[in-house]
Amino acid sequence: MPDFHASVRIPLHDRSYDIAILGALSGIGTGIAAPPPGSAAMVVTNDVVQPLHAHALLQWLQPHYRQVHVVVLPDGEAHKDWQTLNLIFDALLTHGCDRKTVLYALGGGVVGDMTGFAAASYMRGVPFVQVPTTLLAQVDSSVGGKTAINHPQGKNMIGAFYQPRLVLCDLSTLDTLPERELSAGLAEVIKYGPIADMAFFAWLEEHMEAVRARDKAALAQVVRRCCEIKAEVVGQDEREAGLRAILNFGHTFGHAMETGMGYGVWLHGEGVAAGMVMAAELSRRLGMVDERFVQRLRALLARAGLPTRGAVIDRHDNAGRYLELMRVDKKAEAGEIRFVLLAGPGKAVVRAAPDALVREVIDACCAG
Ligand code: NAD
Ligand code: GLY
Repeated sequence: MPDFHASVRIPLHDRSYDIAILGALSGIGTGIAAPPPGSAAMVVTNDVVQPLHAHALLQWLQPHYRQVHVVVLPDGEAHKDWQTLNLIFDALLTHGCDRKTVLYALGGGVVGDMTGFAAASYMRGVPFVQVPTTLLAQVDSSVGGKTAINHPQGKNMIGAFYQPRLVLCDLSTLDTLPERELSAGLAEVIKYGPIADMAFFAWLEEHMEAVRARDKAALAQVVRRCCEIKAEVVGQDEREAGLRAILNFGHTFGHAMETGMGYGVWLHGEGVAAGMVMAAELSRRLGMVDERFVQRLRALLARAGLPTRGAVIDRHDNAGRYLELMRVDKKAEAGEIRFVLLAGPGKAVVRAAPDALVREVIDACCAG
């Protein structure tokens, strides 16, 4: 297995950076990726990832920095909050870290989003590097500079756009990922098909078994293609003035499920999977895609081990609760919910839809 698979560049002028896709972190050091210079490094990780993968990263970092500190956060989406974020600031201040300290986010999207936000705010901004260890983080959250924590009333509501200096995707870290988490990552992988690349969707239909078996060549292809698509979108619309919203296909419904059930009950990718079916079904009812396409999407999500029916988040008024939560979505404008819908397979649009139709979709798509 080669140590180096590919490199994808995120083109953002003086804030451009590379995503290095590696077979193993130990294969680095051949000039593929250099750690940003700094007075010290602070590795931010959690209590699940630290015992599994911190050692390899520390070994790589130690020759490059005078000091390498580690802060270990409690694991889980339920800890993506102010209190946990403060643990990073506490550690930075306790170690006397200055503004030349480089933060390293070692973990999934939760660690990545929180470390990025900490890097954006500590001393008004310090450099940071993403070392994503979940499939979801390697194909999506570590790339593009969205950083955030959750608020009890809404997902990812407090945050900043702040780009990393480098992203290191070590495919070997995925060997330890639980099956359910791999599937959750596949939701964000599959997302890129309907919104941008149906040839990639067809490739996934052909190679789903190899991907779920964690075949490294298949995973390298997946991470590379997803990062290429994301680079193309983020390069054109870094701060989501328009186009970038298409990356949120399935997320409007998905975030409502995550917030409605309580963070961590369903994984982010599970909400996105069921949310994509709901968004595709809404598109179908608006005459934008046909039933055959919705079935094809549902079938691939099921083969990826993902839910294809939405969760019931309120026993008395399920659709009403969805609508209430979706009005807090960041794409909403003056209380009007804006959905990422499909104008056809491989083409996404952002638009509003009548509440009555959205209610019908929720009633038709939710389990129970
Ligand atoms: P996560 O960070 O909670 O990781 C999932 C679980 O896997 C955790 O328990 C984690 O400790 C564990 N884990 C991580 N790496 C592991 C490994 N190699 N081996 C074993 N266990 C490992 O969840 P996630 O799915 O990576 O990320 C979801 C988060 O990402 C959500 O908060 C979501 O909002 C955010 N997100 C952000 C963006 C963005 O653009 N910033 C995009 C998509 C999702
Ligand atoms: N994951 C959505 C985005 O990066 O815009």
